[in-house]
Amino acid sequence: CSVRSSLIEPDGGALVDLVVPESERAKKTSEAEALPKVRLTKIDTEWVHVISEGWASPLRGFMRENEYLQSLHFNSLKVADGHVVNMSLPIVLAIDDKTKELIGSSPNVGLVGPNGDLVGILRSIEIYKHNKEERIARTWGTTAPGLPYVEEVITPAGNWLVGGDLEVLNPIKYGDGLDHYRLSPLQLRKEFDRRQADAVFAFQLRNPVHNGHALLMNDTRRRLLEMGYKKPILLLHPLGGFTKADDVPLDVRMEQHSKVLEDGILDPETTIVSIFPSPMHYAGPTEVQWHAKARINAGANFYIVGRDPAGMGHPTEKRDLYDPDHGKKVLSMAPGLEKLNILPFRVAAYDTAEKKMAFFDPSRAKDFLFISGTKMRTYARSGENPPDGFMCPSGWKVLVKYYESMQAE
Ligand code: ADX
Repeated sequence: CSVRSSLIEPDGGALVDLVVPESERAKKTSEAEALPKVRLTKIDTEWVHVISEGWASPLRGFMRENEYLQSLHFNSLKVADGHVVNMSLPIVLAIDDKTKELIGSSPNVGLVGPNGDLVGILRSIEIYKHNKEERIARTWGTTAPGLPYVEEVITPAGNWLVGGDLEVLNPIKYGDGLDHYRLSPLQLRKEFDRRQADAVFAFQLRNPVHNGHALLMNDTRRRLLEMGYKKPILLLHPLGGFTKADDVPLDVRMEQHSKVLEDGILDPETTIVSIFPSPMHYAGPTEVQWHAKARINAGANFYIVGRDPAGMGHPTEKRDLYDPDHGKKVLSMAPGLEKLNILPFRVAAYDTAEKKMAFFDPSRAKDFLFISGTKMRTYARSGENPPDGFMCPSGWKVLVKYYESMQAE
């Protein structure tokens, strides 16, 4: 459509859309049926979703070797006109020896979902070695055992990667009652335009929203209004793909986020809640670049980043895996993200003197209480409430219900 939009340009200039038009669906489905097949895991399908809607624009499929190497070594891709777009995570499809043999010299393969349904076609494919150790070490900066994405996805995967141009037969749906929250970058852009947004600020998250998160978002709105923007819109953008076992599941988080809006902690009039379909790597400063880049494609020109984005505890040592300040520092300097305005924030914690979440003040450190995910779980399990002002009570109730159900199992 040719509606004029003042939104930030997608990476590469045009938003990628790889879902085949209705008119070609039948023909391409029968073509796919006749091709050698690659079986996708649930997480492969999440990546198909990501690529097909253009979150990774200008990437048009699972990476071929030259894209994989650029991503792994430069955290970016060179596009046709020679300029660089950010691409910090390899988006790849692994196959085993048997599948490689079965493909033989076929230039195209059919992609089959975990339930046996035909998902799409990968064209002009290239098969190359999957050096897992190198991929892990370069993506995470460590090969320590216990990295969730490595254990779930990479270790069990095959020793080959297959790249090519993707076509998806039908839009990816999950049937979990949350599909209406899964707006594509194109749908989000249309919505921002409909609301006449003159600034869009994105907040990536994988945790329930506490008042410290809200402080970052509300402070950003205030700053944007001060800068002269009239209609800033917040994209509250929880990650919906794979997360580690002790993270709060998506359905519970969505319910919790609804309460935060109902309660007015965030303004429902100027906020869009939507699901970001990507799986989570927990690769800290490397991954936060992907989180930011994908939001450019969805139309966001401001990106909030706080403490230890995409981080986690070290899997074998008692410390954070990454320096909690590196995510925002790296993001502010990342090649290919120059057009995105990064809004770095200090850590927020519970101020016991003021009885609210506030930016940490090192001069009176002892007044501040850090309430981690583990601590929230302990509160919820023991039936104890977190201090007043940590989270809206209706949102907290959602979490208590979830943790109680966990305990019952
Ligand atoms: S993430 O994996 O999606 O980054 P999380 O949901 O915990 O994890 O964080 C969402 C965003 O809020 C990130 O930008 C993160 O840096 C920021 N953040 C989380 N907790 C705090 C905090 N206590 N103070 C400041 N920023 C925070």
